[in-house]
Amino acid sequence: MKKKIAVLPGDGIGKEVANGAIEVLKAIGQYYKHDFEFEFGLIGGEAIDKCGTPLPEETIELCRSSDAVLLGAVGGPKWDKNLPELRPEKGLLGIRKELDLFANIRPVQTYKALQEISPLKGEKIEDVDLVIVRELTSGLYFGKPSERIVSDGEEAAVDTLFYKRKEIERILETAFQMAQKRRGKVTSVDKANVLTTSKLWREIAEELASKYPDVTLEHMLVDNAAMQLIRMPSQFDVIVTENMFGDILSDEASMITGSLGMLPSASLSNSGLHLYEPVHGSAPDIAGQNLANPVGMILSGALMLRYSFDLHEEARAIEKAVKHVLDSGKCTRDLTNNEGAFIHTTEMVEEIKEVLANDY
Ligand code: NAI
Ligand code: MG
Repeated sequence: MKKKIAVLPGDGIGKEVANGAIEVLKAIGQYYKHDFEFEFGLIGGEAIDKCGTPLPEETIELCRSSDAVLLGAVGGPKWDKNLPELRPEKGLLGIRKELDLFANIRPVQTYKALQEISPLKGEKIEDVDLVIVRELTSGLYFGKPSERIVSDGEEAAVDTLFYKRKEIERILETAFQMAQKRRGKVTSVDKANVLTTSKLWREIAEELASKYPDVTLEHMLVDNAAMQLIRMPSQFDVIVTENMFGDILSDEASMITGSLGMLPSASLSNSGLHLYEPVHGSAPDIAGQNLANPVGMILSGALMLRYSFDLHEEARAIEKAVKHVLDSGKCTRDLTNNEGAFIHTTEMVEEIKEVLANDY
Protein backbone atom coordinates (compact mmCIF):
# COMPACT_ATOMS: atom_id res chain seq x y z
CA MET A 1 0.00 0.00 0.00
CA LYS A 2 1.34 3.44 -0.94
CA LYS A 3 0.34 6.39 1.27
CA LYS A 4 1.40 9.98 1.71
CA ILE A 5 1.35 11.17 5.31
CA ALA A 6 1.55 14.86 6.23
CA VAL A 7 3.56 15.34 9.43
CA LEU A 8 3.10 18.55 11.41
CA PRO A 9 5.48 18.14 14.39
CA GLY A 10 4.73 21.59 15.85
CA ASP A 11 6.59 22.83 18.92
CA GLY A 12 8.37 21.56 22.04
CA ILE A 13 8.15 17.79 22.55
CA GLY A 14 5.86 17.67 19.48
CA LYS A 15 8.98 17.28 17.35
CA GLU A 16 10.55 14.62 19.58
CA VAL A 17 7.47 12.40 19.72
CA ALA A 18 6.67 12.88 16.02
CA ASN A 19 10.13 11.57 15.14
CA GLY A 20 9.43 8.50 17.26
CA ALA A 21 6.12 7.80 15.56
CA ILE A 22 7.68 8.14 12.11
CA GLU A 23 10.39 5.65 12.99
CA VAL A 24 7.84 3.13 14.21
CA LEU A 25 5.67 3.63 11.10
CA LYS A 26 8.72 3.21 8.87
CA ALA A 27 9.45 -0.11 10.57
CA ILE A 28 5.86 -1.21 10.01
CA GLY A 29 6.15 -0.15 6.36
CA GLN A 30 9.28 -2.24 5.99
CA TYR A 31 7.89 -5.38 7.65
CA TYR A 32 4.45 -5.29 6.07
CA LYS A 33 5.60 -3.96 2.69
CA HIS A 34 3.90 -0.58 2.64
CA ASP A 35 5.29 2.53 1.06
CA PHE A 36 4.70 5.34 3.57
CA GLU A 37 5.94 8.71 2.37
CA PHE A 38 6.28 11.44 5.02
CA GLU A 39 6.11 15.11 4.12
CA PHE A 40 6.63 17.83 6.73
CA GLY A 41 4.63 21.00 7.30
CA LEU A 42 4.77 23.90 9.74
CA ILE A 43 2.12 24.64 12.35
CA GLY A 44 1.92 26.57 15.63
CA GLY A 45 4.73 28.62 17.13
CA GLU A 46 7.43 27.66 14.65
CA ALA A 47 5.08 28.57 11.80
CA ILE A 48 4.49 31.97 13.41
CA ASP A 49 8.25 32.56 13.61
CA LYS A 50 8.98 31.43 10.06
CA CYS A 51 5.83 32.43 8.14
CA GLY A 52 4.06 34.97 10.34
CA THR A 53 0.97 32.79 10.78
CA PRO A 54 0.20 29.71 12.90
CA LEU A 55 -1.36 27.92 9.92
CA PRO A 56 0.35 28.71 6.60
CA GLU A 57 -1.54 28.09 3.38
CA GLU A 58 1.13 25.56 2.29
CA THR A 59 0.40 23.48 5.38
CA ILE A 60 -3.30 23.30 4.52
CA GLU A 61 -2.42 22.35 0.94
CA LEU A 62 0.02 19.71 2.13
CA CYS A 63 -2.69 18.16 4.32
CA ARG A 64 -5.27 18.24 1.52
CA SER A 65 -2.88 16.44 -0.83
CA SER A 66 -2.08 13.73 1.75
CA ASP A 67 -3.86 10.54 2.81
CA ALA A 68 -3.65 11.32 6.54
CA VAL A 69 -2.21 13.93 8.91
CA LEU A 70 -0.01 13.31 11.97
CA LEU A 71 0.32 16.22 14.39
CA GLY A 72 2.68 16.57 17.39
CA ALA A 73 1.70 19.49 19.63
CA VAL A 74 1.80 23.25 19.47
CA GLY A 75 2.54 26.11 21.85
CA GLY A 76 5.05 27.35 24.36
CA PRO A 77 5.84 30.29 26.64
CA LYS A 78 7.60 32.12 23.81
CA TRP A 79 4.24 32.86 22.17
CA ASP A 80 2.03 33.18 25.28
CA LYS A 81 1.88 36.98 25.05
CA ASN A 82 1.04 37.07 21.34
CA LEU A 83 -2.19 38.60 20.08
CA PRO A 84 -5.05 36.06 19.71
CA GLU A 85 -4.59 35.73 15.93
CA LEU A 86 -0.90 34.96 16.37
CA ARG A 87 -1.22 32.24 18.97
CA PRO A 88 -0.07 28.69 18.22
CA GLU A 89 -3.45 27.15 19.21
CA LYS A 90 -5.06 29.10 16.38
CA GLY A 91 -3.19 26.75 14.07
CA LEU A 92 -4.79 23.76 15.74
CA LEU A 93 -8.32 25.17 15.71
CA GLY A 94 -7.73 26.30 12.13
CA ILE A 95 -6.72 22.90 10.79
CA ARG A 96 -9.69 21.24 12.55
CA LYS A 97 -12.02 23.70 10.86
CA GLU A 98 -10.30 23.52 7.44
CA LEU A 99 -10.49 19.72 7.34
CA ASP A 100 -13.95 19.63 9.01
CA LEU A 101 -12.72 17.24 11.70
CA PHE A 102 -16.04 16.86 13.51
CA ALA A 103 -15.35 13.72 15.54
CA ASN A 104 -12.62 13.54 18.15
CA ILE A 105 -11.91 9.98 19.21
CA ARG A 106 -9.99 9.26 22.39
CA PRO A 107 -9.43 5.66 23.38
CA VAL A 108 -8.58 5.11 27.04
CA GLN A 109 -6.94 1.88 27.95
CA THR A 110 -5.10 0.84 31.07
CA TYR A 111 -1.95 -1.24 31.32
CA LYS A 112 -1.25 -3.67 34.11
CA ALA A 113 2.32 -2.44 34.27
CA LEU A 114 1.12 1.10 34.96
CA GLN A 115 -1.49 0.42 37.63
CA GLU A 116 0.72 1.98 40.27
CA ILE A 117 0.58 5.44 38.73
CA SER A 118 -3.19 5.61 38.24
CA PRO A 119 -4.97 7.68 40.89
CA LEU A 120 -7.63 4.95 40.95
CA LYS A 121 -7.16 1.67 42.79
CA GLY A 122 -5.83 -1.31 40.83
CA GLU A 123 -8.98 -3.43 40.69
CA LYS A 124 -11.04 -0.47 39.45
CA ILE A 125 -8.97 0.12 36.38
CA GLU A 126 -8.52 -3.49 35.35
CA ASP A 127 -10.35 -4.08 32.08
CA VAL A 128 -10.84 -0.41 31.30
CA ASP A 129 -11.09 -0.14 27.52
CA LEU A 130 -13.30 2.75 26.46
CA VAL A 131 -13.50 5.32 23.70
CA ILE A 132 -14.79 8.86 24.00
CA VAL A 133 -16.35 10.26 20.82
CA ARG A 134 -16.52 14.04 21.19
CA GLU A 135 -18.28 16.38 18.75
CA LEU A 136 -15.56 18.84 17.79
CA THR A 137 -16.81 21.51 15.40
CA SER A 138 -20.07 22.79 16.88
CA GLY A 139 -21.87 23.17 20.21
CA LEU A 140 -21.05 25.66 22.93
CA TYR A 141 -17.57 26.48 21.61
CA PHE A 142 -18.87 27.69 18.25
CA GLY A 143 -22.45 28.90 18.80
CA LYS A 144 -23.28 32.55 18.07
CA PRO A 145 -23.85 34.92 19.77
CA SER A 146 -20.80 34.60 21.95
CA GLU A 147 -20.04 38.04 23.29
CA ARG A 148 -19.97 40.54 26.10
CA ILE A 149 -23.26 42.42 26.35
CA VAL A 150 -25.15 44.80 28.52
CA SER A 151 -28.35 43.35 29.95
CA ASP A 152 -30.80 45.47 31.98
CA GLY A 153 -28.02 48.01 32.35
CA GLU A 154 -25.67 45.40 33.79
CA GLU A 155 -22.45 43.93 32.45
CA ALA A 156 -23.14 40.44 31.07
CA ALA A 157 -21.88 37.84 28.64
CA VAL A 158 -23.51 35.19 26.46
CA ASP A 159 -22.44 31.91 24.86
CA THR A 160 -24.72 29.78 22.73
CA LEU A 161 -25.21 26.02 22.67
CA PHE A 162 -26.44 25.34 19.16
CA TYR A 163 -26.69 22.09 17.19
CA LYS A 164 -28.20 21.23 13.82
CA ARG A 165 -29.78 17.81 13.30
CA LYS A 166 -27.12 16.83 10.74
CA GLU A 167 -24.31 17.65 13.16
CA ILE A 168 -25.86 15.45 15.83
CA GLU A 169 -26.59 12.65 13.38
CA ARG A 170 -23.07 12.38 12.04
CA ILE A 171 -21.39 12.24 15.45
CA LEU A 172 -23.88 9.66 16.71
CA GLU A 173 -23.41 7.58 13.54
CA THR A 174 -19.66 7.62 14.17
CA ALA A 175 -20.24 6.33 17.70
CA PHE A 176 -22.67 3.57 16.64
CA GLN A 177 -20.28 2.39 13.94
CA MET A 178 -17.39 2.35 16.36
CA ALA A 179 -19.43 0.34 18.88
CA GLN A 180 -20.25 -2.22 16.18
CA LYS A 181 -16.55 -2.91 15.81
CA ARG A 182 -16.04 -3.05 19.58
CA ARG A 183 -18.26 -4.39 22.37
CA GLY A 184 -21.53 -3.05 20.98
CA LYS A 185 -22.47 -0.47 23.60
CA VAL A 186 -23.01 3.28 23.21
CA THR A 187 -23.46 5.60 26.17
CA SER A 188 -24.86 8.90 24.93
CA VAL A 189 -24.07 11.61 27.45
CA ASP A 190 -26.24 14.72 27.67
CA LYS A 191 -28.12 17.00 30.05
CA ALA A 192 -31.60 16.23 28.74
CA ASN A 193 -33.27 17.10 32.04
CA VAL A 194 -32.32 20.75 31.45
CA LEU A 195 -31.06 21.49 27.94
CA THR A 196 -33.19 21.67 24.80
CA THR A 197 -30.24 20.68 22.57
CA SER A 198 -29.85 17.56 24.72
CA LYS A 199 -33.51 16.64 24.19
CA LEU A 200 -33.02 16.82 20.42
CA TRP A 201 -29.77 14.85 20.79
CA ARG A 202 -31.62 12.11 22.72
CA GLU A 203 -34.44 11.92 20.15
CA ILE A 204 -31.98 11.52 17.30
CA ALA A 205 -29.98 8.91 19.22
CA GLU A 206 -33.18 6.87 19.70
CA GLU A 207 -34.06 7.18 16.00
CA LEU A 208 -30.62 6.04 14.89
CA ALA A 209 -30.51 3.18 17.37
CA SER A 210 -33.08 1.27 15.32
CA LYS A 211 -30.57 1.29 12.43
CA TYR A 212 -28.03 -0.46 14.66
CA PRO A 213 -29.87 -3.39 16.27
CA ASP A 214 -26.56 -4.98 17.27
CA VAL A 215 -25.67 -1.95 19.43
CA THR A 216 -27.14 -1.24 22.87
CA LEU A 217 -27.85 2.45 23.48
CA GLU A 218 -28.00 3.96 26.94
CA HIS A 219 -28.40 7.60 27.94
CA MET A 220 -26.55 9.15 30.85
CA LEU A 221 -26.67 12.65 32.29
CA VAL A 222 -23.31 14.35 32.14
CA ASP A 223 -22.94 14.87 35.88
CA ASN A 224 -23.60 11.20 36.49
CA ALA A 225 -21.16 10.28 33.71
CA ALA A 226 -18.43 12.30 35.43
CA MET A 227 -19.09 10.29 38.57
CA GLN A 228 -19.35 6.90 36.86
CA LEU A 229 -16.00 7.39 35.10
CA ILE A 230 -14.37 7.38 38.51
CA ARG A 231 -16.70 4.90 40.21
CA MET A 232 -16.59 2.15 37.59
CA PRO A 233 -14.84 3.07 34.34
CA SER A 234 -14.94 -0.52 33.06
CA GLN A 235 -18.71 -0.22 32.44
CA PHE A 236 -18.13 1.94 29.35
CA ASP A 237 -17.47 0.95 25.76
CA VAL A 238 -18.21 3.98 23.54
CA ILE A 239 -19.17 7.32 25.11
CA VAL A 240 -20.54 9.95 22.72
CA THR A 241 -21.21 13.55 23.65
CA GLU A 242 -21.26 17.20 22.62
CA ASN A 243 -18.17 19.39 22.39
CA MET A 244 -17.78 20.88 25.87
CA PHE A 245 -19.02 17.83 27.80
CA GLY A 246 -16.54 15.79 25.74
CA ASP A 247 -13.69 18.18 26.44
CA ILE A 248 -14.17 17.81 30.17
CA LEU A 249 -14.97 14.09 30.29
CA SER A 250 -12.07 13.15 28.02
CA ASP A 251 -9.57 14.95 30.25
CA GLU A 252 -11.09 13.26 33.27
CA ALA A 253 -10.91 9.86 31.57
CA SER A 254 -7.31 10.42 30.51
CA MET A 255 -6.27 10.49 34.15
CA ILE A 256 -7.48 6.92 34.65
CA THR A 257 -4.32 5.73 32.89
CA GLY A 258 -2.13 7.92 35.05
CA SER A 259 -0.20 9.78 32.36
CA LEU A 260 -1.11 12.19 29.63
CA GLY A 261 1.87 10.92 27.66
CA MET A 262 0.20 7.57 26.96
CA LEU A 263 -2.91 8.70 25.13
CA PRO A 264 -3.57 8.93 21.40
CA SER A 265 -6.43 10.60 19.57
CA ALA A 266 -7.99 10.66 16.14
CA SER A 267 -10.01 13.49 14.63
CA LEU A 268 -12.23 12.25 11.84
CA SER A 269 -13.97 13.98 8.96
CA ASN A 270 -16.51 12.79 6.43
CA SER A 271 -14.08 13.53 3.59
CA GLY A 272 -11.88 10.58 4.56
CA LEU A 273 -8.92 12.82 5.45
CA HIS A 274 -8.33 12.37 9.18
CA LEU A 275 -5.87 13.83 11.69
CA TYR A 276 -4.05 11.98 14.48
CA GLU A 277 -2.35 13.51 17.51
CA PRO A 278 -1.44 12.67 21.09
CA VAL A 279 -3.71 14.32 23.67
CA HIS A 280 -0.84 16.07 25.45
CA GLY A 281 0.59 19.50 24.68
CA SER A 282 4.11 20.66 23.86
CA ALA A 283 5.37 20.20 27.46
CA PRO A 284 7.85 23.12 27.52
CA ASP A 285 9.07 21.98 30.96
CA ILE A 286 10.73 18.90 29.47
CA ALA A 287 11.18 19.92 25.82
CA GLY A 288 14.56 19.22 24.22
CA GLN A 289 15.65 16.87 27.00
CA ASN A 290 14.75 13.52 25.44
CA LEU A 291 12.39 12.94 28.39
CA ALA A 292 9.02 12.90 26.61
CA ASN A 293 6.95 9.75 26.52
CA PRO A 294 6.45 9.04 22.80
CA VAL A 295 3.74 6.40 23.33
CA GLY A 296 0.72 8.70 22.86
CA MET A 297 2.09 9.81 19.51
CA ILE A 298 3.09 6.28 18.47
CA LEU A 299 -0.38 4.97 19.34
CA SER A 300 -1.84 7.85 17.32
CA GLY A 301 0.10 6.40 14.41
CA ALA A 302 -1.56 3.05 15.12
CA LEU A 303 -4.98 4.72 15.04
CA MET A 304 -4.05 6.21 11.67
CA LEU A 305 -3.25 2.77 10.30
CA ARG A 306 -6.59 1.47 11.58
CA TYR A 307 -9.00 4.30 10.74
CA SER A 308 -7.41 5.84 7.65
CA PHE A 309 -5.81 2.85 5.96
CA ASP A 310 -7.78 -0.14 7.33
CA LEU A 311 -4.48 -1.76 8.33
CA HIS A 312 -5.80 -3.52 11.41
CA GLU A 313 -3.07 -6.11 11.82
CA GLU A 314 -0.39 -3.44 11.58
CA ALA A 315 -2.19 -1.23 14.14
CA ARG A 316 -2.46 -4.15 16.54
CA ALA A 317 1.24 -4.94 16.07
CA ILE A 318 2.15 -1.46 17.33
CA GLU A 319 -0.27 -1.66 20.27
CA LYS A 320 1.08 -5.08 21.22
CA ALA A 321 4.66 -3.87 21.02
CA VAL A 322 3.90 -0.93 23.33
CA LYS A 323 2.24 -3.24 25.83
CA HIS A 324 5.14 -5.66 25.64
CA VAL A 325 7.72 -2.97 26.41
CA LEU A 326 5.68 -1.62 29.36
CA ASP A 327 5.10 -5.12 30.71
CA SER A 328 8.85 -5.70 30.66
CA GLY A 329 9.14 -2.84 33.19
CA LYS A 330 10.63 -0.21 30.89
CA CYS A 331 9.15 3.25 31.18
CA THR A 332 9.82 6.89 30.49
CA ARG A 333 10.21 9.29 33.39
CA ASP A 334 6.56 10.35 33.52
CA LEU A 335 5.60 6.73 34.27
CA THR A 336 7.82 6.38 37.32
CA ASN A 337 6.26 8.89 39.72
CA ASN A 338 9.64 10.55 39.33
CA GLU A 339 11.38 7.85 41.29
CA GLY A 340 13.29 4.86 40.03
CA ALA A 341 14.92 4.05 36.73
CA PHE A 342 13.62 5.32 33.43
CA ILE A 343 14.56 5.34 29.77
CA HIS A 344 14.63 8.28 27.37
CA THR A 345 12.35 9.10 24.46
CA THR A 346 14.67 7.69 21.81
CA GLU A 347 15.31 4.56 23.88
CA MET A 348 11.60 3.93 24.25
CA VAL A 349 11.23 4.21 20.48
CA GLU A 350 14.12 1.74 20.00
CA GLU A 351 12.55 -0.73 22.46
CA ILE A 352 9.24 -0.64 20.59
CA LYS A 353 10.99 -1.08 17.25
CA GLU A 354 12.93 -4.01 18.61
CA VAL A 355 9.78 -5.82 19.68
CA LEU A 356 8.29 -5.18 16.24
CA ALA A 357 11.42 -6.59 14.59
CA ASN A 358 11.36 -9.71 16.77
CA ASP A 359 7.67 -10.33 16.38
CA TYR A 360 7.87 -10.07 12.68
P1 NAI B 1 1.11 19.67 28.44
O1 NAI B 1 0.30 18.51 28.03
O2 NAI B 1 2.08 20.18 27.46
O3 NAI B 1 1.91 19.29 29.77
C1 NAI B 1 1.29 18.99 31.02
C2 NAI B 1 2.26 18.21 31.90
O4 NAI B 1 2.36 16.87 31.42
C3 NAI B 1 3.67 18.77 31.89
O5 NAI B 1 4.26 18.60 33.16
C4 NAI B 1 4.40 17.91 30.88
O6 NAI B 1 5.78 17.78 31.13
C5 NAI B 1 3.68 16.57 31.03
N1 NAI B 1 3.63 15.84 29.75
C6 NAI B 1 2.82 16.11 28.70
N2 NAI B 1 3.06 15.27 27.69
C7 NAI B 1 4.05 14.46 28.10
C8 NAI B 1 4.74 13.37 27.49
N3 NAI B 1 4.49 12.96 26.25
N4 NAI B 1 5.72 12.77 28.22
C9 NAI B 1 6.01 13.16 29.46
N5 NAI B 1 5.38 14.16 30.09
C10 NAI B 1 4.42 14.81 29.41
O7 NAI B 1 0.10 20.83 28.87
P2 NAI B 1 0.41 22.31 29.39
O8 NAI B 1 1.64 22.32 30.22
O9 NAI B 1 -0.85 22.79 29.96
O10 NAI B 1 0.68 23.18 28.07
C11 NAI B 1 1.97 23.40 27.51
C12 NAI B 1 1.80 24.03 26.15
O11 NAI B 1 1.17 23.10 25.27
C13 NAI B 1 0.91 25.28 26.15
O12 NAI B 1 1.48 26.20 25.26
C14 NAI B 1 -0.42 24.77 25.65
O13 NAI B 1 -1.15 25.76 25.00
C15 NAI B 1 0.01 23.71 24.68
N6 NAI B 1 -1.00 22.64 24.47
C16 NAI B 1 -1.09 22.15 23.21
C17 NAI B 1 -1.94 21.12 22.93
C18 NAI B 1 -1.95 20.57 21.56
O14 NAI B 1 -1.10 20.92 20.74
N7 NAI B 1 -2.85 19.69 21.22
C19 NAI B 1 -2.82 20.54 23.96
C20 NAI B 1 -2.59 21.08 25.27
C21 NAI B 1 -1.71 22.11 25.49
MG1 MG C 1 -9.16 19.86 26.97
